[in-house]
Amino acid sequence: MGKVIVVTSGKGGVGKTTSTAALGAALAQRNEKVVVVDFDVGLRNLDLVMGAERRVVYDLINVIQGDAKLPQALIRDKRLETLFLLPASQTRDKDNLTPEGVERVMTDLKRHFDWIICDSPAGIERGATLAMRHADIAVVVTNPEVSSVRDSDRIIGLLDAKTAKAERGERMEKHLLLTRYDANRAERGDMLKVDDVLEILSIPLLGIVPESMDVLRASNIGAPVTLADSRCAPAMAYFDAARRLAGEEVPITIPGEKRGLFGKIFGRRAA
Ligand SMILES: Nc1ncnc2c1ncn2[C@@H]1O[C@H](COP(=O)(O)OP(=O)(O)O)[C@@H](O)[C@H]1O
Ligand SMILES: [Mg+2]
Repeated sequence: MGKVIVVTSGKGGVGKTTSTAALGAALAQRNEKVVVVDFDVGLRNLDLVMGAERRVVYDLINVIQGDAKLPQALIRDKRLETLFLLPASQTRDKDNLTPEGVERVMTDLKRHFDWIICDSPAGIERGATLAMRHADIAVVVTNPEVSSVRDSDRIIGLLDAKTAKAERGERMEKHLLLTRYDANRAERGDMLKVDDVLEILSIPLLGIVPESMDVLRASNIGAPVTLADSRCAPAMAYFDAARRLAGEEVPITIPGEKRGLFGKIFGRRAA
């Protein structure tokens, strides 16, 4: 059975879609069978970041409503055999995303994929709660800013209260992915320090992705950053994060600093 990951955050524009595509591609580059699922109904853009927008015919809501079978809606990546996209609908109403329908699709996906990565919309409403509903693991994407950290804290509360796992009395595995990290701004005190964010959220760190033009360049050519340029700093950060998701112990480094933070941060697994 595949593992379901939700990539979530309270705030928009923090890097959820970028991270979904990059982590999905990074896991598929390890030969794991991966599907990335766009839950951002009305605002779909995971297909753009994946470079698959012209190939979208059917979407998640079509499958939920029975207008299409799951294989008809899945789009195989042009570059990676084991990477698939289940797109969101741009036109339909979010209300078409029914809890029963989502459950059916997730159960089906779990039978066919190693990893199901759900790109959540921003906020705490229907789309976001349905995206996290069936997750085994949550990746909480946060920028080192007060507003982003505050919204992430709210999401952590929801993950512990509103998910199927929580209802079964189980604990959701939660990881912090700190993105758009700018070492210079952190140094000047314009951004929260890594330690401060960890202190507030107190969930284990999955990785730190630096602010980088490479992310924009990748999105402009319609490729996850790990495929666009596998040697650039954000790609390396995502590769390391994917290895950690797959259970490897990889030391964490703060972009712009040489010092490893391994024992201190990733050693703390008690989410
Ligand atoms: N590490 C990064 N460095 C620079 N820009 C980034 C980075 N991560 C994301 N972005 C940019 O930030 C914007 C929002 O990212 P996106 O992944 O769409 O966020 P969300 O899905 O959380 O709304 C996009 O323009 C994206 O290219
Ligand atoms: Mg998004």
